[in-house]
Amino acid sequence: MAVKIKRLAILGGGNLGQALAKGWAESGLLKARHVHITRRQVSKLESLSKAGFRCSSDNAQAALESDVVVLAVQPGQLEDVMSEISPVLEAGRHTVVSTITGVTIDRIADLAPEGVVVVRAMPNTAVETLSSMTCLSVDAERRGEKMAIMLFDKVGATLVINEEMMIPATALCACGIAFFLRTIRAAAQGGTEIGFHADEALLLAAQTARGAADLILQGGAHPEQEIDRVTTPRGCTIAGLNELEHRGFSSAMPFYKTGTVRKEPIGDADVEIVLNLLEDQMPDHIFVAGDLSDPHGTHRMCYFAIQRALRQFKEMHPERSHPLVWLYRGAWQEWEIDATDVFIPMSKADLDRKIEAIFKHESQKDRAMYPGAYDTREFWERAKQRNQETATRIDALGLPEFHAVESYVCVQDLPS
Ligand SMILES: NC(=O)c1ccc[n+]([C@@H]2O[C@H](COP(=O)([O-])OP(=O)(O)OC[C@H]3O[C@@H](n4cnc5c(N)ncnc54)[C@H](OP(=O)(O)O)[C@@H]3O)[C@@H](O)[C@H]2O)c1
Repeated sequence: MAVKIKRLAILGGGNLGQALAKGWAESGLLKARHVHITRRQVSKLESLSKAGFRCSSDNAQAALESDVVVLAVQPGQLEDVMSEISPVLEAGRHTVVSTITGVTIDRIADLAPEGVVVVRAMPNTAVETLSSMTCLSVDAERRGEKMAIMLFDKVGATLVINEEMMIPATALCACGIAFFLRTIRAAAQGGTEIGFHADEALLLAAQTARGAADLILQGGAHPEQEIDRVTTPRGCTIAGLNELEHRGFSSAMPFYKTGTVRKEPIGDADVEIVLNLLEDQMPDHIFVAGDLSDPHGTHRMCYFAIQRALRQFKEMHPERSHPLVWLYRGAWQEWEIDATDVFIPMSKADLDRKIEAIFKHESQKDRAMYPGAYDTREFWERAKQRNQETATRIDALGLPEFHAVESYVCVQDLPS
């Protein structure tokens, strides 16, 4: 019997949530008006709203009017979202499909009313062009499996896997899309180097990558078979292949490491370490690393621990004036000028002292492994140049001229 979905909610209209909404509408599975997509900053969903999707910040209402609820928020937002929707979720009616990295089916089932079916899905952003590779996991009774296969087959290919393989699947398929894109970009850059305009080079590289994938997916070949067909004796293909491997191409693919290292979510013990520090120091100011773009990065993980510790600290000391939290960034990127609350001018001596301190840390004496292969600077060099760039930009606005400037964003509490 065909599985029918009448209405679907996507909670978390970010990169993946928006791509899913567009993909399912494009595939003809659902009309845009039958997809309700939420995020807190609804204004950022304007283009989807214009395309006919229902857009709001009301997670409970979106879940109430849907039979499938897709979770596409970051792991740290899961508990808040589940506490909003749990009162309206009904066993026998709702299926929750979670795309959240690292959160198990059991964890979500614990946060939902008993009997609500939970499925885990790991798609990639190519859902938008109906060409995702989506891995799915279901519970021991395989509840929701057919529905999930139907849903994600519409936006690409699916494979049902054991839940313990979800982390490796994230590396190969979700992160993988970035690795293949970087490979295409590298080929396109090479194309420009040998004489093509950038747009032509990108087309040639991307279409060639598609051809290589189709030879495997449609032709059923093994990559080495197809490689042999284009590798003539003493030709340039074998010279190129040897050069790639000489430089460690296959072993440089980051799947091997990312797929096997298990990153535990922040737990009570981590929060306690921060809480003890707050108790000990009773600080008026707290400086928190604010490069949050990598969901698995150290900054984001520490941020969650500090956020939870600060909330507990406030409950324990309601009489105390709350510490000011200062978010700083560093090597990867700097706060935009208009987002910055406080600029700290630095003399050459200040900057030299800071850079010397950073440089003494072994990990800062390397180039970034990924992302950033285009940028050959070591971490400490990046940090130095960011501070100098900020000073140049402030100067260009007609403000005083400094050797270097650090930027800080000040918040009362850490936003989730
Ligand atoms: N990106 C991928 O390719 C990919 C692939 C597979 C799995 N995933 C997983 O999918 C999840 C989303 O990833 P993403 O890359 O799309 O992240 P993202 O761009 O940060 O999107 C998350 C969205 O959730 C919204 N949000 C936060 N709190 C919310 C709340 N209480 N209610 C409703 N919406 C809320 C945020 O918007 P507001 O701040 O406006 O609320 C944000 O736009 C993550 O768990 C990720 O691990 C991502």
